[in-house]
Amino acid sequence: MEVDFSINKEEGNHTVEIKNIGVLGAGTMGSGIAQVCVEAGYRVVLIDVVPEILEKALNRLNKAWGKAVEKDKMTFEAVANNKALLIRSTDMNDFKDVDIVIEAIVENLEIKKKVQQQLSGICKPETILVTNTSSLSITEIAAATNRPDKVLGMHFFNPVVRMKLVEVIPGAETTEDVVNVVLELAKTIGKEPVLAKDSPGFIVNRILVPYINEAANAFYEGVASASEIDKAMKLGAGMPMGPLELADMVGIDIVLAVCESFVKEFGDPKYRPSLAFKQKVRAGHLGVKTGKGFYDYSK
Ligand code: 3HC
Repeated sequence: MEVDFSINKEEGNHTVEIKNIGVLGAGTMGSGIAQVCVEAGYRVVLIDVVPEILEKALNRLNKAWGKAVEKDKMTFEAVANNKALLIRSTDMNDFKDVDIVIEAIVENLEIKKKVQQQLSGICKPETILVTNTSSLSITEIAAATNRPDKVLGMHFFNPVVRMKLVEVIPGAETTEDVVNVVLELAKTIGKEPVLAKDSPGFIVNRILVPYINEAANAFYEGVASASEIDKAMKLGAGMPMGPLELADMVGIDIVLAVCESFVKEFGDPKYRPSLAFKQKVRAGHLGVKTGKGFYDYSK
């Protein structure tokens, strides 16, 4: 069956050439997105309002490039080029000249709407505004801006440097030419784009998150330990990682937020988040990023 994406074909004439990319949010996803963009030769303005997060991102990138040189996968010259292409800042006004902003901030609809609205006040009128979201409505985020025809979702996967997929999600008003510019950009940064409708969780999280949630339920009920559940799914179903180590890598707070948005959007109790997620989030055990989740990373 052909899927009708209902892309807005009426006002299309957006032929902006992407040279300068803004990335907002220097956490796990934002720093990975900035990395693949500079490695593809784009000038990237990476902004985070928290200087410590920006510093941590820079350290992560320097470490990744240092490792790549050690393994003969990158030259010193390429690393120097990457560093020269990466501009960091804590001031969102530094986005005023970029051609596209990829926002990768906290997974909260109201905060994303507010920030996208601010971005649309700062950026040039032709700048495309992208949100990297796990499950939130692109149309609703776009409606908060002054340019819903130039707003769309790009859903990257963790770890960004390794995962080939980017889901590209047009909102109700996004024009076809804006979608095409973003599909092309995804390919240029070495990703395989797949178009998805603006529906909760799009494709991957719609399927992956209930699977992780069910693993957490099995853990909570004492069916097996975390390591046994993970081992079973790796050896019995050929998964590259077990579902609970994956939850730790993605962030248990993120997985919980996706489950909660599914319950809200679909109104179906089958998406009810596991109590194991709630308990771990309340304890601040969010996974790898806090040193503890289903596993202990502090040792
Ligand atoms: N960050 C950056 N690089 C990483 C990494 C990480 N977290 N984990 C591994 N790598 C790199 C290593 O440095 C190494 O690089 P090199 O080849 O240059 O030396 C390379 O990957 C291979 O390392 P490993 O041998 O340890 O890696 P594996 O072959 O075991 O693969 C994996 C690691 C790619 C993480 C694999 O286990 C995998 O595919 N896991 C599933 C990941 C997944 O499902 N991601 C999607 C999560 S859902 C999501 O993100 C959506 C969100 O909205 C919730």
